[in-house]
Amino acid sequence: MSKAEFILTPATGKYFIGRKELISELFKEALRKKSHIGFCLYGRRRIGKTSALMELKYLLRDKKDVVVVYLSLYDLADLSLRTFGQELVNIISSAYQEKGLLPIKIKMGKLLGASLDVVMELLKNAKIQASVLEQIKLIIESGEKKENYSEYIRHAFNLSEKLAESTSTKCVLILDEFPEILRIENGAQLVKMLRTQYETQKNVSLIISGSIKKTLEMVAISENSPFYKQLVPKHLLPFSEEETEEFLKSYMGKVDRAEARKLHKLTGGLPFYLQFIGRSTEYRGDIDQIIDNFVKQEGSLFFKEEFEKLSDKEKLIVISLSKGMKTLTDIAKETEEPTTTIGRYLPILMEKEVIIKEFRGSYLILDSLFGYWVKQKYGNAP
Ligand SMILES: Nc1ncnc2c1ncn2[C@@H]1O[C@H](COP(=O)(O)OP(=O)(O)OP(=O)(O)O)[C@@H](O)[C@H]1O
Ligand SMILES: [Mg+2]
Repeated sequence: MSKAEFILTPATGKYFIGRKELISELFKEALRKKSHIGFCLYGRRRIGKTSALMELKYLLRDKKDVVVVYLSLYDLADLSLRTFGQELVNIISSAYQEKGLLPIKIKMGKLLGASLDVVMELLKNAKIQASVLEQIKLIIESGEKKENYSEYIRHAFNLSEKLAESTSTKCVLILDEFPEILRIENGAQLVKMLRTQYETQKNVSLIISGSIKKTLEMVAISENSPFYKQLVPKHLLPFSEEETEEFLKSYMGKVDRAEARKLHKLTGGLPFYLQFIGRSTEYRGDIDQIIDNFVKQEGSLFFKEEFEKLSDKEKLIVISLSKGMKTLTDIAKETEEPTTTIGRYLPILMEKEVIIKEFRGSYLILDSLFGYWVKQKYGNAP
């Protein structure tokens, strides 16, 4: 197989590395007819959530009885109920049209603005199943009642079930960047409504995904939240050392294990860094040198802003962590700050997802490359 070139867009096919267990689980579930298990995929920024979802879609592209619908809430032109509903209808119907399972040529989006009479006239001769036609009617009618877009979204969402049922397919409905939904008017209500609808569906598997762990926990994981128990939570972690090696093998054609290990340690196995560093350096030369240069040249672009957002005390703590301090006492000693001050700021830094608790009493900078940059830049200051 030919080598893959480094990319910054979501990776699929030959570009997609690792995540075997996750993909296999999602894939198997997608093929299980009448099963209705959904997933909630979450993880930090640029860890590869969108890539994993796109890869699932890619792997299922030729399956006759599974239709994958992918919508990222980031791609909505605006966060209004109307736009969300429209996009749902658009994207669900296009996916069925593409697989030849919805025999109309015209784009659904074009129909949504028209009056019911016009639409019914247009669809009169198309061989659309009665239940689907009925659903389209409900969508158009509720869309005309401008004061109640929640109904509109309910019907739009259920188009997936109606299409799946009537074509004996399974519909895998992926909503990427799902927490954005809370920014839509009455977002929390909307989430509850979708959940209630989802309970009534039999042929749709819902996969939601988002980068802000907190929001997702609220939406999907915590006990009081609507999607609790309906969606299987999946935390997407950085590449393992083996996956980093596999990455280098696929993208470079060869791999030196010792170098791979170094690179893994510095990037923390974040696929985005592996791609980004590769793109600007092609990994030519000594790996320490490569990373050093990369961090010096490109690092400022990324990390300076992130660092400047921190308060003075937070900066001190982050610098101390970058130098290898791990515990509250060590940080206090090294920064010559009272332990109470450090104790106050550590949770704030965790909240901001700058640091994580490695285990009880021991802290780490979440992004190891950021830590490396901080150390290079501020670590030697008196
Ligand atoms: N499995 C993978 N194999 C190879 N490259 C990957 C993989 N997953 C992610 N990447 C690369 O990492 C970068 C980020 O990927 P992606 O956009 O999928 O992450 P994300 O978690 O959806 O990010 P965001 O938080 O911005 O939505 C891209 O450059 C992508 O090509
Ligand atoms: Mg993404």
